[in-house]
Amino acid sequence: MKTKIIGTGSFVPDRVVTNQDLAGIVDTSDEWIRTRTGIGQRRILDGPGTSAMAAEAARRAMDNAGVGPEDIDIILVGTTTADHCFPSAACEVQGSLGAVRAVGYDISGACSGFIFALSTADALIRAQGYRVGLVIGADNLSKIVDWSDRSTCVLFGDGAGAAVVKGFEGQEEGGIIAADLGSDGRKAAVLQCQSRTMGNFLTGTKPEVGYITMEGQEVFKFAVKKVPECIQKVLEDTGTGIEEIKYFVLHQANYRICESIAKRLKVSMDRIPMNIEHYGNTSAATIPVLLDELNRGGKLEPGDKIILSGFGAGLTWGASLVQW
Ligand code: ACO
Repeated sequence: MKTKIIGTGSFVPDRVVTNQDLAGIVDTSDEWIRTRTGIGQRRILDGPGTSAMAAEAARRAMDNAGVGPEDIDIILVGTTTADHCFPSAACEVQGSLGAVRAVGYDISGACSGFIFALSTADALIRAQGYRVGLVIGADNLSKIVDWSDRSTCVLFGDGAGAAVVKGFEGQEEGGIIAADLGSDGRKAAVLQCQSRTMGNFLTGTKPEVGYITMEGQEVFKFAVKKVPECIQKVLEDTGTGIEEIKYFVLHQANYRICESIAKRLKVSMDRIPMNIEHYGNTSAATIPVLLDELNRGGKLEPGDKIILSGFGAGLTWGASLVQW
């Protein structure tokens, strides 16, 4: 059994927030943000949240794949910003789509969430006989950003991307060939967001909520080391030459991180598609949104090999080798 991506979709909110807009609320500038990150603007939600974005991306992916809600067996949502503690975003997406036969749950891998969810869907399809899955990366980071902290608030945006995956029997070419996933909980404090804190009649305190905190340079150093390592591992494990890879679809956290990864892999930036300038870092959504742009832009031909790779809080990382 092999799992193939048979359709993609994405959704970003209409509301554009430029670097100049942010310079009006914190001490920053378009020049600083562009030169340090490559970000020019981001989309910020001012309406319904993560599940609504995820469901819209999913609808577009299902249209692209030519499948209906009743065809879906699994819904996995990579997210750290579900609208509710429970139910999961996946169950809300299921309800919104009317995918009544599916089982849905969320996967918490921060910016690696889509890569983790894709691998999990592949494993479920191959091991448990499920046939069609919706794999979604969706995040509404703007609700957990401290809008008075210039070191983080300029980096993030909201969005969702989705892929429909399908299991195929027999000699069918392509699909998800291999993946390498990892996490290092010793580095948990480098990038985090406190959820609702303890607070009850025993503590005598009220619960509080936290915002994103980040040691930016630590994350930078980790990303430029780990991402090339896990990509190399997937290539070596499968005997794939780096020259066989058409595109490296990388998590969009910082243009300079992607440039550094390109340098370490000795590949040119024209094989590393970028859209961070338009959307900023949308966490679990960056990779499926970029994949959808490539797919809809006619950039992917059957047989093309691509690498999807990301990193995020945890710290987590992962790479997936996919043949289109
Ligand atoms: N505007 C203007 N100045 C700023 C801003 C800003 N928005 N932010 C920070 N500065 C200042 C700092 O205060 C500092 O000033 P000082 O020298 O007077 O102290 C100076 O700029 C340099 O700050 P650094 O933090 O050293 O800047 P750096 O070059 O490291 O860039 C950045 C910061 C862009 C955050 C970089 O470290 C980075 O991209 N790191 C990786 C981030 C990342 O990938 N995060 C993933 C999160 S994904 C997830 O899982 C949610």
